[in-house]
Amino acid sequence: MAEMTIRKMAFEFTPEMQRVFIKNDPAMSYTFLGAWMMLPYLEPYLIRTMRQALPHVQDPQLRDDLRMFCAQEGEHYKQHARANDIIRSVNPGFAGLSALEEELDAEYKGFSKDKPLLFNLAYAEGFESMTSAASTVQLEMGMYDRVDSPLAHLGKWHVMEELEHRSVAFDVYHACGGTYLYRLKNQLWAQGHYFKWVKRFADLMREADPELFATYDKPEIARERKRWNRRYWRRAIPQILKTYRPRYTPRELPLTAEFTAAQQRYSGMAKGFGRIKGETV
Ligand SMILES: [Fe+2]
Ligand SMILES: [Fe+2]
Repeated sequence: MAEMTIRKMAFEFTPEMQRVFIKNDPAMSYTFLGAWMMLPYLEPYLIRTMRQALPHVQDPQLRDDLRMFCAQEGEHYKQHARANDIIRSVNPGFAGLSALEEELDAEYKGFSKDKPLLFNLAYAEGFESMTSAASTVQLEMGMYDRVDSPLAHLGKWHVMEELEHRSVAFDVYHACGGTYLYRLKNQLWAQGHYFKWVKRFADLMREADPELFATYDKPEIARERKRWNRRYWRRAIPQILKTYRPRYTPRELPLTAEFTAAQQRYSGMAKGFGRIKGETV
């Protein structure tokens, strides 16, 4: 597995930053921004799940990996929360986001309290396997390299670290006795649940920003966007479908030169590096 590093980032988010950080694609950019609004609640849920699993994990290496996973996810949601605070403030129409955030937070806290650990681990793995599969294609195609925005850096740093820790949720799920069929069933449920929420957040944001969307409403922009999206989905969908196979392992995901370059770039931009306190690290 690629080495995991806890990078402390200092992205400079401002109210003026370019929110359409995926070139010419306000709809895709706002789908991501909607998903990112969820992360200060979703990633703490993943961390709670992993911490609940820790007493059931015996392998010292996996115990360390689990702690590194939690530390990386902890940095992710803090950076996204900083960006979200700025984004919420730029448009009065985004005021409704806070109510959605509260509802989502309560739902994930309810999962931690009421659902079996194995369900929560399958949810975590469903989220991690889907995002890792998409991340590798996003890095390879330079999705975050085409617009100058701190939001593009945020996305690129995040997906690179998702690839660094891509096998942890999978390994912890299996260390806790998870089976293939239970993973498949609950992973599909989790992904449906996640996208239902992404849509609620993204729809609210899109409806509040019609002027911004109108500036991209030109035939030549639409043609370029369609071409790029076709290429993206042609590569991402087969990669995501592979995660549903019985023999799937996150270790089979290709780690490309673009991934290694992103690791080096964000290690260079980090303002510091975290360490975990554990029995073997
Ligand atoms: Fe993350
Ligand atoms: Fe993750």
